[in-house]
Amino acid sequence: MACALSLLALVLAPLLVNGQLSERVGPLTSASSKAAYKTCNVLDYGGVADNSTDVGAAITSAWEECSDGGLIYIPSGDYALETWVTLSGGKATAIQMDGILYRTGTASGNMILVENTSDFELFSSTSKGAVQGFGYVYHREGSISGPRILRLQDVSDFAVHDVILVDAPAFHFVMDTCSNGEVYNMAIRGGDEGGLDGVDVWGSNIWVHDVEVTNKDECVTVKSPANNIQVESIYCNWSGGCAMGSLNADTVVTDILYRNIYTWNSNQMYMIKSNGGSGTVTNTLLENFIGHGNAYSLYIDGDWSSESTVTGDGVQLSNITFKNWKGTEADGYSRGPIKVVCLDTAPCTDITIEDFAMWTEAGDEQFYVCENGYGEGFCLESDGDDTTAYTSTISVTSAPSGYSAATMAADLSTAFGTVSSIPIPTIPTSFYPGLTPISSLGAAATTA
Ligand SMILES: *[C@@H]1O[C@H](CO)[C@@H](O)[C@H](O)[C@H]1NC(C)=O
Ligand SMILES: *[C@@H]1O[C@H](CO)[C@@H](O)[C@H](O)[C@H]1NC(C)=O
Ligand SMILES: *[C@@H]1O[C@H](CO)[C@@H](O)[C@H](O)[C@H]1NC(C)=O
Ligand SMILES: *[C@@H]1O[C@H](CO)[C@@H](O)[C@H](O)[C@H]1NC(C)=O
Repeated sequence: MACALSLLALVLAPLLVNGQLSERVGPLTSASSKAAYKTCNVLDYGGVADNSTDVGAAITSAWEECSDGGLIYIPSGDYALETWVTLSGGKATAIQMDGILYRTGTASGNMILVENTSDFELFSSTSKGAVQGFGYVYHREGSISGPRILRLQDVSDFAVHDVILVDAPAFHFVMDTCSNGEVYNMAIRGGDEGGLDGVDVWGSNIWVHDVEVTNKDECVTVKSPANNIQVESIYCNWSGGCAMGSLNADTVVTDILYRNIYTWNSNQMYMIKSNGGSGTVTNTLLENFIGHGNAYSLYIDGDWSSESTVTGDGVQLSNITFKNWKGTEADGYSRGPIKVVCLDTAPCTDITIEDFAMWTEAGDEQFYVCENGYGEGFCLESDGDDTTAYTSTISVTSAPSGYSAATMAADLSTAFGTVSSIPIPTIPTSFYPGLTPISSLGAAATTA
C-alpha cells in the first residue's frame, strides 16, 4: 500500500507543481536572441542619462525601430520621463530597462503603456531598473488622480520581471486582457493610502510570483474576466492585501490559485468583494496564507458598502477553498479572522475552510461570522441545507492550536506616508517565510 501511494504521489507531482496554469507562460523568444537580432539603445535615439533630458521620445523611437524582433535597451543611469510612452503592435520584442526613470511629466494616463503586443519581455538584467513615480507630489495635495506607472493591454506570451515600481501617483501595474504571462521578482512600493494599487490582473493563464507590495490598497488582485491565474510567493509588506474584485455584472472568474501569501499590516489577507452584480466565481483555491497585524483575514463580502451597488442578485461564488491559514489578526473582537457575507439572493456554495487557525493580537476573544455561505468549516452551514437566509456567529475565547506562524524578518514598521519622497527599494530575496524566489534574481527568461 505504501508503495502504491508513493507511486501515485510521483505521478501527481508534476500536476501539483503546475497548479492552475493552463499552458506555458512567458515570451516565446529569449531576450538574448532578440538582442542578437537587433538592439536599439535609447542613447542612440536621443536619450541622455543626465536625469533631465526627457527620455520618452527616445524610448518610442527605439521601439519603432526594434519592436519587430529586437531589444530596446535602456542602459543603467538616471533618466527623466516627461512624456509618456505608448508602445503598440510589438512582435518578439523586449525592453531591457537597467536604468531608473524619474517622472517629471504631469499628464494623466499611463507612463508606460504596452498594447497589442506578443512575445514580449520587460526586465532589468541587474534587478535595479526602476520607475520612480514621485506620487507624493500629488498625494500631499490630496489627489490620487495622477498617472499610473505601467499598463499591459492585450499582451500575450510575455514576462515582466526584476523591475521596481515606486510611488505611483495612481496605480502601479495593471494587466488588462493579457494572456500567457509571467510576472516575477518585483518590488512595488507606494504611498500609504487607497487608490494606489500594486498589481491588478485580468485575462487568461498568468503566473504572478515573488512580488513584494507596500501601499494601502490592492496587493495582487484578480479582476473579471479571468481564468487560470496563479499567484504565489507574494509579500504584502504593509498593504491593502490581496483580493478579487471589485466584482460587477457578468463576472466570470474561474480556476484561480493563490498560495504562499504572506500579509503584514494590511486591510485583509484575502477579500472577495462585490455589492450586487451577477455572474460567477468558481474553482478557486487559497492556500498557505500567513498573516500578522491585519484588520480582516479571510473576508468574503457580497454586500460590500465601499462599492456602489451594482444591478443584479449578486455574484455566485462556488467551489472556493481556503486551506492552511495561520497567524494572528490585529483585533479579532472587532474584525474576526473569518467573515463570510453572501447575499440571500446569491448564497455561496461549496465553500471549504480547513486547516485554519488564527488568533487575535488584542484582547482574548474573536468571532467567526457567516451569512448565507454553505459548505464545510467553522460557521458555514452544510451544502444541501435549506437555503433560508441565515447569519451565524461563533465566539472564540482561547487561541486555536497551531495558530502561530513565522514572521518575515523585515516587516515594515512605519509606513512611507504620502507627503515625502519614497526611496527606491531593492528586490527582496525572499517573499514568504522559508522560500527563495522560484527564478533567481536578474536572470533573463530563457525560453527560446
Ligand atoms: C533625478 O531627478 C530627480 C528629480 O526629478 C531627483 O529627485 C533625483 O534624486 C535625481 N536622481 C539622482 C540619482 O540624482
Ligand atoms: C495589432 O498589431 C498588429 C501588428 O502586430 C497590427 O497588424 C494590428 O492592426 C494591431 N491591431 C490593433 C487593434 O491595433
Ligand atoms: C474545484 O476547484 C478545484 C480548483 O481549485 C478543482 O481542482 C476542482 O476540480 C473543482 N471541483 C469541481 C467539482 O469542479
Ligand atoms: C519590508 O518593507 C520595508 C520598507 O520597504 C523594508 O525595509 C523591508 O526590508 C521589507 N522587507 C523585506 C523582507 O523586503
